[in-house]
Amino acid sequence: MRYYGAHKPVMAADVMERLFIDPSGVYLDATAGAGGFVRRILESLKDDGRVIAMDRDEEAIRHLQVMFEDDDRVVVTRDNFSKLALNPEVTAYRPLTGILFDLGVSSHMLDDPTRGFSHRADAPLDMRMDTDGELTASDVVNGYDSHALERVFRDFGEEPRAGKLARAVVSARPIEGTAALAELLRTNVPWREEAKVIARVFQAVRIEVNRELDALEEALPAALEQLKVGGRMVVMSYHSLEDRRAKQFFRDMSRNCTCPPEVPMCMCGGENARIRLHDRKALQAHEDEVERNPRARSVRIRTAEKIR
Ligand SMILES: C[S@@+](CC[C@H](N)C(=O)[O-])C[C@H]1O[C@@H](n2cnc3c(N)ncnc32)[C@H](O)[C@@H]1O
Repeated sequence: MRYYGAHKPVMAADVMERLFIDPSGVYLDATAGAGGFVRRILESLKDDGRVIAMDRDEEAIRHLQVMFEDDDRVVVTRDNFSKLALNPEVTAYRPLTGILFDLGVSSHMLDDPTRGFSHRADAPLDMRMDTDGELTASDVVNGYDSHALERVFRDFGEEPRAGKLARAVVSARPIEGTAALAELLRTNVPWREEAKVIARVFQAVRIEVNRELDALEEALPAALEQLKVGGRMVVMSYHSLEDRRAKQFFRDMSRNCTCPPEVPMCMCGGENARIRLHDRKALQAHEDEVERNPRARSVRIRTAEKIR
């Protein structure tokens, strides 16, 4: 099946070394996608272990169901990971041994010309990971006022020309598809910067459509609550906006004192650290990994062990 063959999990050996601590454990792959990591976990999992394979993308779920239909150790569930604490499979199996977030879009979504994630093929402005979601890229590109668009381009794309590009989009409406949006951006920036600007604006619209940063901010504390003491949480991010949130959360949770600054005296006695960091800095890919798998170039991997 092409969908599965196409995906090579990024940094699989390093991720498994950090995540997999018990062959009879229960693991949540919160972004199961094409099932690359689920398959890796299963390679070392005993019959009494479990993997909960979660994704918000209906197409990924259908493929995961087929891929693992004969394996009783896998439970497939469609959900937004921001709601993982309420997911019935998670609540049935908690506390969990390990939780993995391999963030962003899958290669399959990028390669599917109908879904509008890539500017390389013309497609309707959609970009929804969850096709039941109400907001589409067209709603953002053709519906937001100039200030709201500028905020999206700036906050989610870190685009220095956010204001100029937002005004250009508003005056070129209606913009019918991904090719038209890319062409409009091209005509508004120096040619040397075209590729970067298109990538930043497409990323920004995608993050807005899928509320990706909100989902991550909700998911991280919820995931920590579902883990057992000694359990591991691994977050793989592909751009600085995501990585910053993971880094901040892990830093806050690993500090001895988590009393809010407005509390005049420390009430916790410095005994409040919830996690221990596995690596002092985010793990990045080596050159040979990037050669094998170009998606690894931008990955940052952070791992925490729950200690209380
Ligand atoms: C990089 S791919 C994961 C690839 C996967 N690790 C594998 O080995 O095949 C990211 C996946 O996360 C899913 N995803 C992104 N945000 C999500 C969210 N908030 N809730 C659930 N799934 C999400 C996407 O639909 C996509 O399938």
